[in-house]
Amino acid sequence: MNAVIHDPLADLAASLAEASGPAPSAAFDARIDLAGDDPTLLTFVKHQALMRCYQARYVLLPDQAPAGGVLAPMLRHYDEARLATLAELRPRLEAELIAPLAPSGEGDAAAYVEAMLAEIRENPENAFTAFLAGAEQRADHYRNFLVQSSPDLLAEASASALGVVGEYGEPQSALFRILIDEFGYGSHARKHSVLYRATMRSFDLDDAYNGYWPWFDTEALTLHNAIHWLFQNPRNFFRQVGFLLYAETAYQRSTLAHHRYLRQFHPDADARYFGEHAHIDLHHTRMVIDEAVTPLVAKFGAQVGTEIIAGAELTKAAFARAGAHLLGVSQAFASAASAAYGAPPEPRQRLGRPVTPSSDLAALGAARIQVGALGVLNEARDFAAFPPAAIGRVLA
Ligand SMILES: [Fe+2]
Ligand SMILES: [Fe+2]
Repeated sequence: MNAVIHDPLADLAASLAEASGPAPSAAFDARIDLAGDDPTLLTFVKHQALMRCYQARYVLLPDQAPAGGVLAPMLRHYDEARLATLAELRPRLEAELIAPLAPSGEGDAAAYVEAMLAEIRENPENAFTAFLAGAEQRADHYRNFLVQSSPDLLAEASASALGVVGEYGEPQSALFRILIDEFGYGSHARKHSVLYRATMRSFDLDDAYNGYWPWFDTEALTLHNAIHWLFQNPRNFFRQVGFLLYAETAYQRSTLAHHRYLRQFHPDADARYFGEHAHIDLHHTRMVIDEAVTPLVAKFGAQVGTEIIAGAELTKAAFARAGAHLLGVSQAFASAASAAYGAPPEPRQRLGRPVTPSSDLAALGAARIQVGALGVLNEARDFAAFPPAAIGRVLA
C-alpha cells in the first residue's frame, strides 16, 4: 500500500483557505470543506470545488471596503496560479458530477415547445408553497428556501451572461435583451439579484453573495453547477438555449406561486423579485421561442433542435430534483423529534464539520447538528432520516 496518498481536493482546500485568509469577506471567501475520513462527504466537497471553479471566472467585490484595502485580497482571490489549478481540476469534476445528469435530446423542437408550454400551464400547484401553506413554521422553511436558492439568485444571470458574449447572429441580440432585463436594464435597484437581496433581508438574512456558503447543501450546489456547466462551456450553446426555454417558462409559474404565498402569509416581506418574474418571464419565454429556438432550428436544422431539447430536459430534471430535495429536507425537519427551528449562526463563521445522513452519526454522541437555515437537531441520529443529499454541520 502506498504510504502517501495524494488527495488533490485536500491540497485545493488548503490552498483556497490560504488565499481566503483568516477572516475573508464573502466575496473573497473561496474555502471548501475537507471530506476527511468521511467518504459520504466526497460528492458534496467536489461540488463545492466545482462551484469555486466556476465562480472564479467572474468579478466579485465585497459590499464594504476591507480594512487593509481591497487590492491585496482581490489579487489573492484571482491569483493566476490558483485559477490555473481550478481550471485544471474542472473537466474531471464536470465529467464526474454533471455529465451523468445530462440527458440526450430527441424529437422535434416545435412539437417539444408546444407540449412543454401546455404541460407547464396545466401544472398543478407548486409543491413547496403548498407545503408551506400548511406548515406551522413556514417562515423558517422559507428562510431555508431563500438560502439554498441564493447561490444562483444572488448573482442571477451571471451564468447566462457568459453565453451572450461572442458573435452568433440575430439570436445573440435577443438573448442580450433578456440579459439586460435580468440586470435591471442598467438600473441597479431593479437588477433581479438586488430584488432577491431585499427578500432575503425581509427574512432577517444577510444578503451578501455566498454569505451562507457553508449552509449550501449538495443539491443546491448541484443546481448551481449544472447551470454553470451549461453556460461556461461554449460547446453547450444550443443546450443553453434549451435552458432558457425551460427556465423562463417554468419560472413564470413558480414565481407566481411564491408571489401569492408571500402576499398571503408574509405580507410585509419584499416580494418584488417574484412579482417581477411572474410578469417579465412571460415575455422572456416568447423571446426565447420566437427569436432564438425557432430561427436557430430553421437555420441549422433538426440536430440543433435535439440539442435545445436536451438542454431543456436537463433543466427540467435539475429543477425537479432541487425542488423535491428542498421539500424533502423541510418535511424531514418538520418530522424530526429533536428539531428546534432557528436562524443559522453568524454567516461565514465556519462551524464544525459537515455530515451527511449516511455519516457515522452515532459517533457524534451528544453533538447537535445544524441543518441549513432551518434550525438544529438536538439528537444527531435524527439526521439519518433526511434525504441523502442533505448536509448538516456539527455544532460544538
Ligand atoms: Fe430574472
Ligand atoms: Fe427571465
